[in-house]
Amino acid sequence: MPLVSTKEMFKKAYEGGYAIGAFNVNNMEIVQAIVEAANELKSPVILQASKGARDYANPVYLKKLVEAAVETSDIPIALHLDHGDTFELCKSCIDSGFTSVMIDGSHLSFEDNVALTKKVVEYAHAHGVTVEGELGQLAGVEDEISVEHHSYTNPDDVVEFVTRTGVDSLAIAIGTSHGAFKFKPGQNPQLRFDILEEITRRLPEFPIVLHGASSVSQEYVKIIQENGGSMKDAIGIPEDMLRQAARSAVCKINIDSDLRLAFTAGIRKTFNDKPEVFDPRTYLKPARANIKDLVKHKITEVLGSEGKAV
Ligand code: G3H
Ligand code: 13P
Ligand code: ZN
Repeated sequence: MPLVSTKEMFKKAYEGGYAIGAFNVNNMEIVQAIVEAANELKSPVILQASKGARDYANPVYLKKLVEAAVETSDIPIALHLDHGDTFELCKSCIDSGFTSVMIDGSHLSFEDNVALTKKVVEYAHAHGVTVEGELGQLAGVEDEISVEHHSYTNPDDVVEFVTRTGVDSLAIAIGTSHGAFKFKPGQNPQLRFDILEEITRRLPEFPIVLHGASSVSQEYVKIIQENGGSMKDAIGIPEDMLRQAARSAVCKINIDSDLRLAFTAGIRKTFNDKPEVFDPRTYLKPARANIKDLVKHKITEVLGSEGKAV
């Protein structure tokens, strides 16, 4: 099955009350683990690459890895640009075969965000590519811009933004944040479901996206801590909240930090258990297996997308 855009995926996810996992990819093992997990569970999946991922792996390598994933599986896969920050970057991804792009103008003024997003949408739609925009700002560090507090999405803005830009999906800020330290110790993790509901009321049947949606598995944090790592007080979004979001208008849930934790836990444990190991395959295998287990868990317990690859 060739790469698909997110249009059909989101329509089915909205109607079916589940979400599609959007997993960040940076190397071969990560691509393999995600796609093997999704393929075995017959789940559609989004592979997303950030600007940093393209710089790290080289855009050609990354694209070819995804092509290999498509060739060796039998499920709908979308290739998405995560946090595109310029028209040129989005264009380059569209020209090289991405089927979906995000233009992240969330740090711009409303008018500048509209103008930039609209320009990307015009180019993308002319090439059959779907576009994700963003309104509101997540707390945390993103693309070297640090935001101390959440700037929740204002429901009053969403209809105008979607209408004027023509975006296909909208990332919103309701209390999630990027990275492995989403809440302070003792803080009660909370998401603003009231804002999500109000946005859904204003934008019926429109796909919503959640960034910063890793749950930061304490099992992997413990393994990392016990094997020489330092991740004290790493806290993520509780899975039941994400499941609730997936049942609603949220059609895409972004996960990167959880993959990093699973991978790192596998490598650290092998290094600690077997100091004599120096064959990368020996420590990358358990790291890859951890990601595969994690993605299966997300599909069945969080996203609800198992068996939806039809
Ligand atoms: O939201 C950001 C993603 O986790 C990608 O991170 O820019 O370090 O690749 P990155
Ligand atoms: P996490 O850091 O919570 O995994 O979020 C990833 C993300 O939003 C990628 O765009
Ligand atoms: Zn993000």
